[in-house]
Amino acid sequence: MNVHEFQAKALLKRYGVAVPNGREVTSPADAAAACKDLGGRCVIKAQIHAGGRGKAGGVKLCKSPAEAEAAARDLLGKRLVTHQTGPGGREVKRLLAEALSDIAREFYLGMVIDRATGRPAMMASAEGGVEIEEVAARAPEKILREGIRSGEFRPDLDVKVVSYGLLGMLNWAYKWYDPKGRLNVQQVAEQFTSLALAGLAVDESLVTPAISRRSRLKSGQRLRSELTAR
Ligand SMILES: Nc1ncnc2c1ncn2[C@@H]1O[C@H](COP(=O)(O)OP(=O)(O)O)[C@@H](O)[C@H]1O
Ligand SMILES: [Mg+2]
Repeated sequence: MNVHEFQAKALLKRYGVAVPNGREVTSPADAAAACKDLGGRCVIKAQIHAGGRGKAGGVKLCKSPAEAEAAARDLLGKRLVTHQTGPGGREVKRLLAEALSDIAREFYLGMVIDRATGRPAMMASAEGGVEIEEVAARAPEKILREGIRSGEFRPDLDVKVVSYGLLGMLNWAYKWYDPKGRLNVQQVAEQFTSLALAGLAVDESLVTPAISRRSRLKSGQRLRSELTAR
């Protein structure tokens, strides 16, 4: 089942989730009218069944109804190519006109069916925004391999075993993690990172509790942000 963003947001709203005001629009004149209703500023968002729209020019911030009209004219009927659509792109037939949010920080929260386990899985990341898909592409496996190649991680490790081992460790944390417990999420992440890097790194100086201060290795830091993000 595929739902558009404007449909998903209507559903969320029905169940009490705070979503920005907005509505579906299908013509430039309608986009201008919607923008006016939203206070004269809005974002015009292409409604296609694919993500990565922001980077592909499918999300336009508009400071006036005239800008909204122009954005709609530009987007409607266009084949939007994002890194999730494949080279053929997707035709933009509808738009969402939405109130502008004043963004301090963006997070990512997703729910998907995990095909491997056949169960719903929840994914969260502190790295929201338009780079989130890159976080997913940059799996720990790739970072491990890169670290081994650059000589920062031990070459005798089996990348697959180690990366699944690390993921397993992290994926089970929700079973025992207590938000009111002694350590906060950041501190648990530090422990995990310390444990992981101590076993991975060639450099013996990494095998200390002061890892977050001492470790300035590139792969180590990337792995760390990856682990923290999961
Ligand atoms: N209502 C809004 N107000 C302000 N900025 C927005 C709004 N909606 C989206 N954006 C900006 O556009 C970016 C891309 O929008 P998003 O809904 O994440 O689409 P996609 O994931 O397909 O790129 C967001 O990361 C955010 O920075
Ligand atoms: Mg996004």
